[in-house]
Amino acid sequence: MLDSPLLSVDQLCSGYGRSQVLFGLSLEVPVKGAVCVLGRNGAGKTTLLKAIAGDLPAISGAIQFNGKRIDRFSMEKRARDGLGYVPQDDAIFSGLTVSENLRLGASFSKNDAGIEEVLSIFPKLGKRLGQAAGTLSGGERKMVAIGRAILGRPKLLMLDEPTEGVWIGVIEEIAEQLIRLSTSMSVVLVEQHIELAMKVAQTAYVMERGRVVLSGPVADVKEDPALLRFLAP
Ligand SMILES: Nc1ncnc2c1ncn2[C@@H]1O[C@H](COP(=O)(O)OP(=O)(O)OP(=O)(O)O)[C@@H](O)[C@H]1O
Ligand SMILES: [Mg+2]
Repeated sequence: MLDSPLLSVDQLCSGYGRSQVLFGLSLEVPVKGAVCVLGRNGAGKTTLLKAIAGDLPAISGAIQFNGKRIDRFSMEKRARDGLGYVPQDDAIFSGLTVSENLRLGASFSKNDAGIEEVLSIFPKLGKRLGQAAGTLSGGERKMVAIGRAILGRPKLLMLDEPTEGVWIGVIEEIAEQLIRLSTSMSVVLVEQHIELAMKVAQTAYVMERGRVVLSGPVADVKEDPALLRFLAP
């Protein structure tokens, strides 16, 4: 028997006030491994993650997570239930130190022993713990944001363009760690770097105008002649 998915989005419609962005979008995420969501600027990728995280209400459709229907739950309740979310603008607090930012994530799990674990994933942060987050490089900020989400002990980690504005040398490092993380939790990865996304994920969803226009195993989607058409600027 096949395992039931950890996250199942069914016919989701959502948007901003009267401006609808997602039109009946469906997607499934298994208990382990990574799913990537691709699509050109404005396709609705960020809106999808916001709607799953509870930052935007669903107009209609259903979101099931870990056996429960969560689409009426608050963002905080979804986070406590194991939905980790690293938004595109990373949302770390510039005036707080790296250590203080990480501790904010640890509050869900009520201990900060996990900070050692974050340092084992991103050793570069070790030297930066006392530094104000506002003075970090783009890559270091992303590491703090990912680290903070991990400290909430998520079952599912959703990342919105974790390599945006990050130097190429650090992008590889982040990719390696996402591959490692996806062996112990589910990952949903929104990325503009298609090659990186397809290295990390086993399943791909391609969006256009708030709909899924192509999906399947990465190996198939990669070879699909329609892929370039959906991703061309
Ligand atoms: N706060 C908002 N209010 C109204 N419309 C918005 C808002 N944020 C985004 N939109 C619109 O929703 C659509 C989808 O935007 P979204 O940010 O989800 O795209 P995206 O796929 O994440 O793009 P990118 O790759 O540039 O991050 C766009 O047409 C955008 O203009
Ligand atoms: Mg976006």
